[in-house]
Amino acid sequence: MDLFSAIDTEPVRQQMDKLVKELDRLNYEYYMNDRSLVSDEEFDRMMRELQDLERQYPELASPLSPTKRVGGEVNKNFRQVQHRFPMLSLGNTYSIEEIEDFEARTRKLLDGTPFTYTCELKYDGVAIGLTYRHGQLVQAVTRGNGTTGDDITINAKTIPTIPLRLSGDYPDDFEVRGEVVYPFEAFEAMNRQREADGDEPFANPRNAASGSLKLQDSAECAKRKLLFCMYFMMAPDGISLPDTHSGRLDWARQMGFRVQPYIQECRDIDEIKAFIDHWDKARWELPFGIDGIVIKVNQTALWERLGLTAKSPRWAIAYKFKAERVSTPLESISYQVGRTGVITPVANLKPVWLGGTTVKRATLVNADFIAKMDIHVNDNLFIEKGGEIIPKVVGVDLEKRQAGAMPIQYIDRCPECGSPLVRAEGEAGHYCPNSDGCRPQILGRLEHFVGRRAMNIESLGPERLEMLYDAGLVRNVADLYDLRRDQLIGLGTDATIQDRGADNLLAALEISKSVPFERVLFALGIRYVGEVGAKKLVRYFQNIDTLMTAGEEELAQVEDVGEVTARAVADWFVRPEHRAIVERLRSAGLQMSAEFGTRSSELDGMTLVVSGVFSHFSRDEIKADIERHGGKVSGSISGKTTYLVAGEKMGPEKRKKAEKLGVQIITEQQYLDMVNA
Ligand code: IVH
Repeated sequence: MDLFSAIDTEPVRQQMDKLVKELDRLNYEYYMNDRSLVSDEEFDRMMRELQDLERQYPELASPLSPTKRVGGEVNKNFRQVQHRFPMLSLGNTYSIEEIEDFEARTRKLLDGTPFTYTCELKYDGVAIGLTYRHGQLVQAVTRGNGTTGDDITINAKTIPTIPLRLSGDYPDDFEVRGEVVYPFEAFEAMNRQREADGDEPFANPRNAASGSLKLQDSAECAKRKLLFCMYFMMAPDGISLPDTHSGRLDWARQMGFRVQPYIQECRDIDEIKAFIDHWDKARWELPFGIDGIVIKVNQTALWERLGLTAKSPRWAIAYKFKAERVSTPLESISYQVGRTGVITPVANLKPVWLGGTTVKRATLVNADFIAKMDIHVNDNLFIEKGGEIIPKVVGVDLEKRQAGAMPIQYIDRCPECGSPLVRAEGEAGHYCPNSDGCRPQILGRLEHFVGRRAMNIESLGPERLEMLYDAGLVRNVADLYDLRRDQLIGLGTDATIQDRGADNLLAALEISKSVPFERVLFALGIRYVGEVGAKKLVRYFQNIDTLMTAGEEELAQVEDVGEVTARAVADWFVRPEHRAIVERLRSAGLQMSAEFGTRSSELDGMTLVVSGVFSHFSRDEIKADIERHGGKVSGSISGKTTYLVAGEKMGPEKRKKAEKLGVQIITEQQYLDMVNA
């Protein structure tokens, strides 16, 4: 290598390095946390850029590059098993020309041999492999990294479209592959329920399917209404299968698999294109999501002749649909104020039909985003909906910009309380500093405080909180505990609070006084202090007094508490109005130290499984209670389980399993007697 090329390749190396890091991060988020941070198209574009660079500069390619891997890392929570046959992926493209190339190349390689293609749907879900021996399902494994995946047999067994026993004729030992998808209707219902429960909704059906398969409690998985779409069958040497892909799918259907009927045998590129065109439009009429079309050579004997590339077969390819994109006029911008005062600009759009739903609004993220997109008044915005359910603004339709249109002028005052907005250095968003006088911030904090994972005061929903606020009774969380019965009765216009309602509300507030300190701390709503952070802070500082007087440096010593959180905590406690709230909550009787119910030893060395519905506790509460008494909580019954605590409506399967393994079953009352003894 001469001096010049050595100098020249440095920027290339840097770019490759950057792509590897970014793709690794995206892969990790996608496979481990069920989160897609960019659109599929953007991900594929980056992957392709890296592949091209690696081809041009093989000497610079990293041996650990994401292009060398079939998928992501393996989730640690489940037993990992090796795939008997590696789970390959498919070459994929967004371009019809590349499909034409694929078809021409295949025809050339097969050199006059007669053959056909099958075109089928590319299901947008989670790939799994199912092993059947003697007609029985023995194992279900996720794709994982293609070589090793998670054993999710227990959860797979809960999916009705996965047959546990096969019917008719079947090979003695074989594997089927397919995609677990979350049908739209069930997905939406589940997300609505999650929101009502205060859980974060899933971003899209694929993430929800993946999350469901990794649930620890298979009973929960069973509720998810997942669907298995079978698309592949393979067997070890010596076991024969039909000699066409379509024949294998037909056979699978006879065995009892759900094989979607939308598969077509195609003879040439025109028939392939017609199939693609049809489904590009018709896909929104399906009850589940697809993200493309898969084209395979139908005659399996030809697969060997065509062979494999590094990670995908040469006899198949996937055509991916482009994210649907429309342009629609921006009618106005609303500015929302969150609980921490952060302002989020939201585009109010002329309603437009996109990807199966009507889109009226889309987030504009923050001032930087608006500036970067260079959005002007009355612009038409391009909106896209890929795998995500939430539409994204991806650009401005410049052709439709009106002459003389002015750039968007970002607000400089809070739309709710009129305070001048602040923008902290290094932060992209503006916020309203008037935290104690700005209605949505106060209501947001109150809502957070009473939330299920915080103080869990169910009888105080958003409407009731607004009522209390508007009546001037509640301005901060401490005011809740000063409420009197006579103030509550008759409150509200539509749904006035009656005697019973007032009593219930006061009782719920009373019960909340025994909520453990870590949840009280979380409920205070200090910026960046989530449930986990609150737990760690409580474990370290034990009580509010040591926490309140800790400096930033000491706070940052706590595991998982970074500098930013440490500063936020210190800043919060330094303010006299916050200290006053803490004192009032303390006098009201809320838990302010970990000493309440600190760890005792009644359940030392024991492992308990809880199941069903309890009357004294929520699920999370009984689990916390077990841990407080020194016990361990496990999600499934095994030989190591000491007790199964049976609530109401416990599933018969759990009982059967406990009985089979000789695990003692106790009631909630027996549990209480045991720990209070
Ligand atoms: S065939 C060796 N058919 O798309 C060929 N895959 O990269 C195996 N997928 O991971 C794949 N629908 O999970 C095939 N009808 C279909 C499919 C399909 C979805 C997934 C599969 C694979 C990915 C392709």
